[in-house]
Amino acid sequence: MTSNFSIEWNELTPTWKNFQVEPFSNEIHVVRINISKNLHQVSNHKNLLTYPEKQKLSRIIRQEDKNIFLCSQVMKRIVCGHYLNFPHDEISFDFTENKKPFISGQPDFHFNISHSGDWMTMIISKYPCGIDVEKIQPDFDFEGVIQLTFHPEEIGYIFQNPDQTKAFFRIWTIKESFLKATGVGLIDNLSDLNMMKNSTPLANLNPWQIQSFIIDGNYWCSICYQAQNPKIKFYDY
Ligand SMILES: CC(C)(COP(=O)(O)OP(=O)(O)OC[C@H]1O[C@@H](n2cnc3c(N)ncnc32)[C@H](O)[C@@H]1OP(=O)(O)O)[C@@H](O)C(=O)NCCC(=O)NCCS
Repeated sequence: MTSNFSIEWNELTPTWKNFQVEPFSNEIHVVRINISKNLHQVSNHKNLLTYPEKQKLSRIIRQEDKNIFLCSQVMKRIVCGHYLNFPHDEISFDFTENKKPFISGQPDFHFNISHSGDWMTMIISKYPCGIDVEKIQPDFDFEGVIQLTFHPEEIGYIFQNPDQTKAFFRIWTIKESFLKATGVGLIDNLSDLNMMKNSTPLANLNPWQIQSFIIDGNYWCSICYQAQNPKIKFYDY
């Protein structure tokens, strides 16, 4: 697995402003969407879902999972529609063989989404990008999964950290954001990928740059992108 990335270990402290579409040519845009807050509006746009998506929605049993799925399908159309200046119902997605969504015919428009708990997040960029958000779950038995999913150097970082659970979820989102940016998605050999290897400052020329920040006090979010030291803007939908 390629390791040409660099990570900024100082966490970002975003200032969130109300969502509006602004030119993003040399910028990275991050949009956060609170699922509960937007559920009413999202429910009114159920008609945007394709027939297979409506069928999938009806098969989901837990209400919380239904809300996440509905929010994800509707909001990715609404946000992408705003950026591309297309009516929401004309936005349709294609998928790479690893299931990363993209919009055909828009080579300069890249996006990725992630959801966890009550938050959905999107990253928008002119270049390939990925995002991952995870709720920090204090009771999560991370020691049970750590050997299979993390490299020994990553495990060392987690156990040396005064807040091990928080460190675990940060490395998780860093790793996922990289796998999602590159479009690899799920891999079998997660523990071979060592995110501690290139913990160099962002000034170098590595193609993938990764940064993390906290949302709402208890969610880690990491973004991975190809632009060199871009301005990053944060929007609340
Ligand atoms: C599917 C996967 C891409 C992300 O899964 P996830 O973290 O559970 O889900 P997220 O909410 O962050 O992202 C889901 C979204 O990613 C997008 N996505 C799907 N496949 C993708 C891929 N190959 N590359 C980038 N994005 C992808 C989709 O838009 C999806 O949203 P949707 O299902 O609502 O349409 C995949 O990497 C996975 O299953 N990861 C889990 C692996 C793991 O165990 N990691 C442990 C620590 S590293």
